[in-house]
Amino acid sequence: MTEKREIREPAGKLGVLMPGMGAVATTFIAGVELINKGLAEPVGSLSQLGTIRLGKRTENRVPKIKDFVPLAGIEGLISGGWDALPDDAYDAAALAGVLDKEHLNAVRDELKEVKPFPAVFDPHYVARIDATHTKEYGSLREAVEQVRDDIRSFKEEHGLERLVMVNCASTEAYAQPREAHFSVEGFEKALERSDPSISPSMIYAYAAIEEGVPYANGAPSLAVDIPALVELANERGVPVAGKDFKTGQTLLKTIVAPGLKARMLGLEGWYSTNILGNRDGEVLDDEKSLKSKEVSKLSVLEYILQPGVYPSLYGDISHVVKINYYPPRGDAKEGWDNIDIFGWLGYPMQIKINFLARDSILAAPIVLDLALFLDLAQRAGMAGIQEWLSFYFKSPMTLPELYPEHDLFIQQMKLKNTLRAIMGEDLITHLGLDYYE
Ligand SMILES: NC(=O)c1ccc[n+]([C@@H]2O[C@H](COP(=O)([O-])OP(=O)(O)OC[C@H]3O[C@@H](n4cnc5c(N)ncnc54)[C@H](O)[C@@H]3O)[C@@H](O)[C@H]2O)c1
Repeated sequence: MTEKREIREPAGKLGVLMPGMGAVATTFIAGVELINKGLAEPVGSLSQLGTIRLGKRTENRVPKIKDFVPLAGIEGLISGGWDALPDDAYDAAALAGVLDKEHLNAVRDELKEVKPFPAVFDPHYVARIDATHTKEYGSLREAVEQVRDDIRSFKEEHGLERLVMVNCASTEAYAQPREAHFSVEGFEKALERSDPSISPSMIYAYAAIEEGVPYANGAPSLAVDIPALVELANERGVPVAGKDFKTGQTLLKTIVAPGLKARMLGLEGWYSTNILGNRDGEVLDDEKSLKSKEVSKLSVLEYILQPGVYPSLYGDISHVVKINYYPPRGDAKEGWDNIDIFGWLGYPMQIKINFLARDSILAAPIVLDLALFLDLAQRAGMAGIQEWLSFYFKSPMTLPELYPEHDLFIQQMKLKNTLRAIMGEDLITHLGLDYYE
């Protein structure tokens, strides 16, 4: 048995603030409203539909996760956010074209009320958005103060008890941590001099942490994934997680690759290509943003297959990922994977996967789960990187000395064991010998 943590009850309403109110954010907001009206089911949400086994198999204790841990109720969620375009959530959702008219019209009034705050925007980081709804500020420090004011006024206006922030903004240009990113002190000085290495996603993340608001990064942008902001999150007792929602092709990769490895089947190459035509695809049509996404997608196989440990099976893999913007597709993405594997005595075989996915339909339940689990983490006194939420990310954040865990099934076990641990239940090892000996 682990010791049960003290967890504050989820009293009052929870606000979900999203920088970026495009396809993913509005599909999430509309979905929550539809579910609360009893017009849809939260399909894809582990927090709402998932169960968790407790104790021995003979005990038959398998509650729903939401009945086991004290999660905030989906009926009390209030959404808001920022966008570089002025559209309310109804217009943005209609433009994104993910949900059909019947669904949108059923929650039209609720979506019309969700209007974004003006964005902290920098065209050097996102080139393809014609931003018309942006903040005016002198230094980046002033930009932070404006975002903090927005957070406070949203909380007050809606009578919220607590908030979480989930980054759903366009993918920023690829960047690696630079000098200004390595300490809180250095970061704060860089804010004063408006250092160009501080991106808008970092401004939102910094503002959230300063306001004590848990933060998740759904985009591949660096945002909170820099030492300075992780340090600040630890200091302020704020849980953070990231990055890049694990949805279509990468989700399948992290399902299939662990299976191949479990059976010691070799891999020669994995070629992945995608066509997508939504605004995310258009932003990714810019080379600098595309690099962030490709880097985020590429690391997965290496960590799962461990070529250093299994050189004869995975020592020489050709892994190629392509993303192509193709407007007719809209949000209905198509991914092709050609997987060249080999078996007994080295005989070659092929697997082809053709996934006709809906990007935002796969991402929306992740926004919901992250919001509810991060709120839980904060009430349970957990701070800094929440590695147990790796389950939801293409590039999970970890401490620098740890390699990330990409295998979906290990991630799931980590998530459920964390819930067992904070509730003082036995961890499940799946050993099972004691039933037989
Ligand atoms: N399945 C998925 O859809 C999926 C999966 C993984 C990651 N993501 C990531 O989630 C993010 C959102 O995806 P989407 O499909 O909703 O894209 P989208 O283009 O529909 O929405 C992004 C929104 O962000 C806004 N924006 C850009 N810069 C901003 C800024 N500085 N501040 C505030 N708003 C800003 C844009 O105006 C746009 O409305 C992207 O980074 C994408 O890569 C999506």
